[in-house]
Amino acid sequence: MKDVNVGICGLGTVGGGTFNVLTRNAALIAGRAGCNIRITRVASRRNRDDIDLGNIAFSTEIFDVVNDPAVDVVVELIGGYETARELVLAAVRNGKHVVTANKALIAVHGNEIFAAAEKAGVVVAYEAGIAGGIPVMKAIREGLAANRIDWIAGIINGTGNYILTEMRAGREFTEVLKEAQDLGYAEADPTFDVEGIDAAHKLTILASAGFGVPLQFDKAYTEGIASITPYDIAHAEQLGYRIKHLGIARRRDEGIELRVHPTLVPKSHLIAQVDGVLNAVLVDGDAVGQTMYYGPGAGDEATASAVIADIIDVARIVASESKLRVPYLGFVPDALENLDVLSMEDIQSAYYLRITALDRPGVLAKIASILSEHGINIESIMQKESEVKDGRIPVIILTHTVQERQINRAIEELEFLSDTDGPVVRIRAENFN
Ligand code: HSE
Repeated sequence: MKDVNVGICGLGTVGGGTFNVLTRNAALIAGRAGCNIRITRVASRRNRDDIDLGNIAFSTEIFDVVNDPAVDVVVELIGGYETARELVLAAVRNGKHVVTANKALIAVHGNEIFAAAEKAGVVVAYEAGIAGGIPVMKAIREGLAANRIDWIAGIINGTGNYILTEMRAGREFTEVLKEAQDLGYAEADPTFDVEGIDAAHKLTILASAGFGVPLQFDKAYTEGIASITPYDIAHAEQLGYRIKHLGIARRRDEGIELRVHPTLVPKSHLIAQVDGVLNAVLVDGDAVGQTMYYGPGAGDEATASAVIADIIDVARIVASESKLRVPYLGFVPDALENLDVLSMEDIQSAYYLRITALDRPGVLAKIASILSEHGINIESIMQKESEVKDGRIPVIILTHTVQERQINRAIEELEFLSDTDGPVVRIRAENFN
């Protein structure tokens, strides 16, 4: 059996997991790959005396890996944007294939990196960046290749989902975030998790492969989970919904929707049951209908599972000198369509509104009339006498799907009414139709 030499850059959570699984399952991985996958060099910016690397060459200079002529495949697990970009482009220039778990890198620099790899005739594989251990890119790029994909929606940040799940049980945001960091789920900068940036990186990639459009991370909309209150969580539950931090991409004739925000989902839908660090991605294809991919979205060996699947794919190419490759985004570059990302005013969604109203006759009629003037159809309305406080009462409304522009105009008028007090709370809702 031929040997394929792998060099790993970065020995953090995912790097450590990759090293352990590749070592532990070496024989069965060789049986699947048809070659021996050997780790020949490892680099980590800090010394890792705690890991027994045996005879494997180690250095604290990560570029040693891309400059080692014996390395066939560079595994980039350092994270971040700029150094990772330089490292991957240098590896590609040196004729090496690359496997990365870096979604930020692909979402932001993927168009440039894929073009460079295409030119150099090497592969840059990135499955592990999206939804950790779930092979969802493989499903979209290969398993669903027959379909026109109309929308993708997913819980694609394990840390955020872990926090929202624990908050349902009444725990504090900061305490749960600390726990997620200790478990190795959170990004180096955890604001990426809670503000939806990490999810937007992943959504950008999912949307491009789903719809066949270039990567456009800079146009993605992100809204975090910090403003979600236990009150809205409880009232959404009473209406039959659960609040999840979703990434939603939808293909429309006029462009694509690309957005990450807290979203009410029906409690009866499978995605509402996805708790803790688990991720799930729903994909709607015209031939297959809705499919859902579910599993661990973060963690050392779970993410290593996807890294190693990519290493095996690439090793098969190296060992067989095959030119057969799945295109980066599932479409050959010439087939990518330049569809723009729509502004948030143009997206379509249902909405949960919480209006603080003065408890006096005629208020509900005024609220209903404003919504009706803006063409907004009410699905349900909830107001409880037991919640009156200081003469004010929360009115909770769930709308049918409308354009966000209509809701924004209606909210401006609702906030202007002398019968309402303070800002209207607005959370988008999705029924997956
Ligand atoms: N911080 C990410 C998450 C890690 O929590 O999902 C996996 O991409």
